[in-house]
Amino acid sequence: PLGKIATFAGLRGRAPLCEPQHNLHNCTISIPAMTEIAAIVLAAGMGTRMKSSLPKVLHKAANRSLLGHALTAVKDTQASRTVVVHGPDMESVRKESTSFIPTVEFAEQTERKGTGHAVLMAERAMKGFSGTVLVLYGDVPLIQAQTLTKLVKHLSDQQPMAVLGFIAENPKGYGRLITTQKNTIVAIREELDASTEEKGIRLCNSGVIAIQSEKLWKLLPKIGSKNAKGEIYLTDLVELVNQSGKQVGLEICDEDEVQGVNDRVQLSQIEQRLQDRYRLEAQRNGATLIDPASVYFSADTRIGSDVVIEPNVIFGPGVTVANNVEILGHSHIEGATIGKGARIGPFARLRPGAEIGENVHIGNYVEIKKAEISKGAKVNHLTYIGDAKVGAGSNIGAGTITCNYDGYEKHLTEIGENVFVGSNSSLVAPLRIGHGANIAAGSVVTKSVPDDALAITRPELIIKDGWAKAYRAIKVAKKAKKAKD
Ligand code: UD1
Ligand code: MG
Repeated sequence: PLGKIATFAGLRGRAPLCEPQHNLHNCTISIPAMTEIAAIVLAAGMGTRMKSSLPKVLHKAANRSLLGHALTAVKDTQASRTVVVHGPDMESVRKESTSFIPTVEFAEQTERKGTGHAVLMAERAMKGFSGTVLVLYGDVPLIQAQTLTKLVKHLSDQQPMAVLGFIAENPKGYGRLITTQKNTIVAIREELDASTEEKGIRLCNSGVIAIQSEKLWKLLPKIGSKNAKGEIYLTDLVELVNQSGKQVGLEICDEDEVQGVNDRVQLSQIEQRLQDRYRLEAQRNGATLIDPASVYFSADTRIGSDVVIEPNVIFGPGVTVANNVEILGHSHIEGATIGKGARIGPFARLRPGAEIGENVHIGNYVEIKKAEISKGAKVNHLTYIGDAKVGAGSNIGAGTITCNYDGYEKHLTEIGENVFVGSNSSLVAPLRIGHGANIAAGSVVTKSVPDDALAITRPELIIKDGWAKAYRAIKVAKKAKKAKD
């Protein structure tokens, strides 16, 4: 339906438009028509166990911050308002949030007094909102919009709150869900406050809840801190909702999806899960991955169909690959768009601003940076093209270098259509090579070249007949004499 890659950036998350370029993320999200959703994302923790000067939620998996992953899920639910609760001095967290959701609002929690207290901080920013509030954590990046939507669907007049639970392999440290036979929740018991019997429960609280905003703001101030940690527990809402004569619903998801990040070991586990997810999605959308486990995607990588990706290929941030592209082994690609039918690699390096046109060939040990390579052009061997334009049908010979940097500034090299650049040429920018021109091998080109001209810089070639033979005789004789002495 849509041919132009450039249009896809604005169309994320809407199913019918995800063809034929597939965002590696979930495309289809259905929202119950009546529910307006707002999200509160808790991100006040510093994450001491990360041993980092960076706030925990800004650490990255698949080249996207943990917070960015959570906010992407929020955005995909089409939440009308989002509030991020952060700690003191977290300007960087604000900036990151805004880059995902421009309308995001913030609340600062100056003292960490518990999850209930953190949500309370967002009350002012939520003023005037009367729909369903989702609460989630900024350090739980695998959460999917579909799951949030399913959770919201549990809400009704009789059931103004629902909790996302999971069956933990090892429940230690989590809040346990105390349920009824009807699968509603009567209480959440934190590890430190749980009886031995309750500790045996493996159904745990993920931390994600959905609640009608009116109920939330009415009940939240009633939560005390009489518990083992002396904190204001958000989880106490469950008992308060039950006491008000209403019930709390339960949605269960996979443990993997709600795994949090506390240290770098868990961060690498999240990275692997994301990679597995993206590899499957790329294949399901019609790409062949010869050795999926050796291909690394970024969260925003877009791969078309009938794309073949050989082993050991890495996609950095900002890559879009059209249909029918072949990416050969050991290529490293970031900030690049690759047009239909192009062939990249093996061992190619595409850096930010590489715009590879239809049916272009980029071969081994070629580096392209901030350069537009137009339809059908070939840059096949051992070449650097940076700050440049290469016209359609041009052929760039082995070892060609655009000398784009003079030590202070970058300069542009413009190469016209159907130009032939001979091997080992240095193109000293700024310069323009006209359409159909021919650059002789080994030339150092320092001036612009008109259309259809030849440019050649070459010292005179001298040939001396018999010279090599005579030289050989002298050298062999000298060596023989030395051996004898
Ligand atoms: C919490 C839940 C527990 C659940 C577990 C899932 C409560 C009382 N307990 O426990 O039932 O099984 O998560 O991982 O809610 N945060 C703030 N400000 C605060 C406190 C926390 O922003 O004052 C944020 C943290 O940065 C984190 C999240 O809230 O992202 C959870 O806090 P954490 O201290 O990890 O709660 P747990 O004790 O693990
Ligand atoms: Mg925790």
